[in-house]
Amino acid sequence: MDAILVVGGAGYVGSHACKALALAGYKPVTLDNLRTGHADAVKWGPLVEADFGDVETVRQTIREHGIVAAMHFGALSLVAESVAEPARYYANNVSGTLRLLEALGAEGVGRIVFSSSAAVYGEASGEPIPEDAPLNPINPYGETKRVIEGALRFIGQAQGLAWCALRYFNAAGADEAGEIGERHEPETHLIPNVLKAVRAGRPVKLFGSDYPTPDGSVVRDYVHVADLADAHVAALKFLAGGGESQPMNLGSGEGLSVKQIVAAAERVLGHPIPAEMGPRRAGDPPCLVADPTRAKHRLHWAPSRSHVDTLIRTAQAFEATRG
Ligand code: UFG
Repeated sequence: MDAILVVGGAGYVGSHACKALALAGYKPVTLDNLRTGHADAVKWGPLVEADFGDVETVRQTIREHGIVAAMHFGALSLVAESVAEPARYYANNVSGTLRLLEALGAEGVGRIVFSSSAAVYGEASGEPIPEDAPLNPINPYGETKRVIEGALRFIGQAQGLAWCALRYFNAAGADEAGEIGERHEPETHLIPNVLKAVRAGRPVKLFGSDYPTPDGSVVRDYVHVADLADAHVAALKFLAGGGESQPMNLGSGEGLSVKQIVAAAERVLGHPIPAEMGPRRAGDPPCLVADPTRAKHRLHWAPSRSHVDTLIRTAQAFEATRG
């Protein structure tokens, strides 16, 4: 059973990747400092509580578990926070990751799947975005992801490290068995916030109705977290089979507006959801939709759970398990 180091395996996407790895016959070894992750989300392998920038502990973990490849989900990932505290984002997401790469190199680990983001593109044209579109991040979070993609190119070459940078669009939904789900504190994402507002019996706050989009609200490409997890396993196999290091978009290829998400939630929950329209949220590009052709062809990946009703149904089922 190949052991895979899952950095950030106690977090939202990382914990779903651990489940997918275990189902595919791998042993996921989570390394997480539990600052934003949850120990009880680590259910499919051991947990090492440490910072990923702690070179000695990472090296020891690699040796102890016979790690053959890594997945790296560990990052600070709140856009607004990154604007307020850019240095902390560079220190964690960039410096910490460079130390992680150093540890992988020192122990001869030759493959990594890195969590990148649609945030590397910045303001897009509105058309589905291919991987060779210009990278113009508009916030420090996206910039830290762009910098690490560049570092992977050069460090990967020098160190014999094959990599895939998976650029997620909007991760959503929860494990279909309800074992794990989205638990951010604070929660900033649209779908969990809609569900939380419904539970609390208050209107959901929507940010911006004057965007240059068909209904005036922001358009995003929502993709189920378990579909993302499957893409990580496929990327690992792609690299093991000699696949070329590269970035790949992970999205459904379809855009939904904020208002369409609320309408879908009303349909799935079976009742009206009161909404309060507010001003735009700073830093939100009007429209981000993936062109996912590359991942489809090279990873033989296609999202199977990313219909909006499934996203909302699974997120709601997980939300309902929480007291
Ligand atoms: N929104 C609301 N109300 C809420 C929460 C969100 O109206 O309570 C709106 C946002 O303003 C935005 C849309 O819903 O217009 C989607 O917002 P999310 O926060 O759910 O997702 P983002 O598109 O902002 O964020 C995603 C990823 C980030 C990544 C970013 C790149 O979650 O990690 O895309 O732009 F950086």
